[in-house]
Amino acid sequence: MKHHKIVLAVSLLGLASAAYADDSTLSRNMASACASCHGTNGNSVGGMDPLAGMPKEEMIRKFKDFRSGAKPATVMHQLAKGYTDQQVEMIANFFAAQK
Ligand code: HEC
Repeated sequence: MKHHKIVLAVSLLGLASAAYADDSTLSRNMASACASCHGTNGNSVGGMDPLAGMPKEEMIRKFKDFRSGAKPATVMHQLAKGYTDQQVEMIANFFAAQK
């Protein structure tokens, strides 16, 4: 019986660190969905709007404006609706940290 408790404790530890790793991996994965249009890590080429280094508040505001239609868009208004507020915040954090 003692043995089982140790196994449980070890697997809980594993779970906690996996969840932590997931957070930054998740942000990166979500942001990579933007790369096809906005360039790798938001460093755009060919005149696309760059995302790298965009302040977090600006990104969040632009997503809100895309969703509401306040900011005219060809694709982003649809795309912005596919993310929860929490996901937008993670994406905004990611790009704000890029050079
Ligand atoms: C299919 C191509 C495509 C993808 C994928 C895409 N975008 Fe865009 N993005 C655009 C286009 C095109 C515009 C210009 C507005 C419009 O016409 O929709 C734009 C504009 C923006 C703007 C406004 C830039 C500015 O300074 O005004 C932001 C912010 C933005 N995108 C963020 C993102 C984020 C974050 C992602 C990933 C979650 C993403 N985009 C994925 C095509 C894309």
